[in-house]
Amino acid sequence: MEPILQVRDLHTSFLTSNGEVKAVRGVSFQVEKGKTLGIVGESGSGKSVTSLSILKLLGSTGRVTSGSILLDGEELIHKSKKEMRAVRGGRIAMIFQDPMTSLNPLLPLGDQVGEMIWAHDKKITKQQRQEKVLELFRLVRIPEPEKRLKAYPHEFSGGMRQRVMIAMALACKPELLIADEPTTALDVSIQDQILKLMRSLQQEMGMSIMFITHDLGVVAELCDRVVVMYGGLIMEEADIIDIFQSPMHPYTLGLMASIPDMNQDKRKLLKPIPGSPPDMIHPPQGCPFAPRCPYAMRVCTQELPPYAQTGANRRSMCWLLHPEAPAEGNPFKQGKEEAK
Ligand SMILES: Nc1ncnc2c1ncn2[C@@H]1O[C@H](COP(=O)(O)OP(=O)(O)OP(=O)(O)O)[C@@H](O)[C@H]1O
Ligand SMILES: [Mg+2]
Repeated sequence: MEPILQVRDLHTSFLTSNGEVKAVRGVSFQVEKGKTLGIVGESGSGKSVTSLSILKLLGSTGRVTSGSILLDGEELIHKSKKEMRAVRGGRIAMIFQDPMTSLNPLLPLGDQVGEMIWAHDKKITKQQRQEKVLELFRLVRIPEPEKRLKAYPHEFSGGMRQRVMIAMALACKPELLIADEPTTALDVSIQDQILKLMRSLQQEMGMSIMFITHDLGVVAELCDRVVVMYGGLIMEEADIIDIFQSPMHPYTLGLMASIPDMNQDKRKLLKPIPGSPPDMIHPPQGCPFAPRCPYAMRVCTQELPPYAQTGANRRSMCWLLHPEAPAEGNPFKQGKEEAK
């Protein structure tokens, strides 16, 4: 499989009055063509900054200090603002958590989607544009699309607005869709409908998706592969089946214990991981998770662990996986010792 997106050793910082926030500290991953990669982690782990780095939307204080971002083999790092505008909304589309902030409250939704189509094809006639908008509304399963063309954002529910956002994102047939917590603000049942919609669209259109969420349960429903982030680093990366069958990082174990029950009305965390995320101005010199890790050893607070290969196509950054790590009390070695 060829990758549509390859991120290599990405470092991103923000300059603030308190110092340099090292939000992303050397992240590498790729999104395969036609596949969905999940990026999961708690608040502040660097998920959004990673996607904003790819899109060059970091604002005036943020900057990619090193690394490489290849879109279908083409380097994005050195592209100008103008070139990146063409990439965004053209080759890469994005949807965010709150559609209200991205929609114009004063313009009918049909017109907003129409504008998006026009932006990428100035020769299209009004009639053709309307047809295309209807086609997109049908694609994202908006009921009675003809009646909805003239509706304003406030007349739509949150779930319907998110469908419009997806329609806008798909208007230009992107090679890659970046979705940053697109269902977080929705009720569980609506959230589930949007995830199902995204999954079927992905299958119909063969799109590649980078899906950002703090919820491993959502990852399980939608993704082929997952990257687990913490403290601006990738703690674990694996195929979805592997990570649920045998999580190989204490942070992943912690996230799994906190997966909410899909049948519950309120998505409350079952067992949140105690403690709080690291200070990214002075990140710890060792593993960023060590202060909260129930298995932390002395080395964990002293030195960043190297990546350990934990299977054919997976890796984890944890000292417990080091060949010389003790087996006693080690959740990743105990089973193996007993099996001997
Ligand atoms: N504009 C900014 N200026 C300074 N620091 C920032 C800025 N944007 C993000 N950060 C910091 O970068 C780190 C990573 O933030 P990021 O938004 O990527 O987290 P996230 O994983 O997306 O979290 P969430 O789940 O809350 O969206 C955090 O420590 C955050 O405070
Ligand atoms: Mg975020």
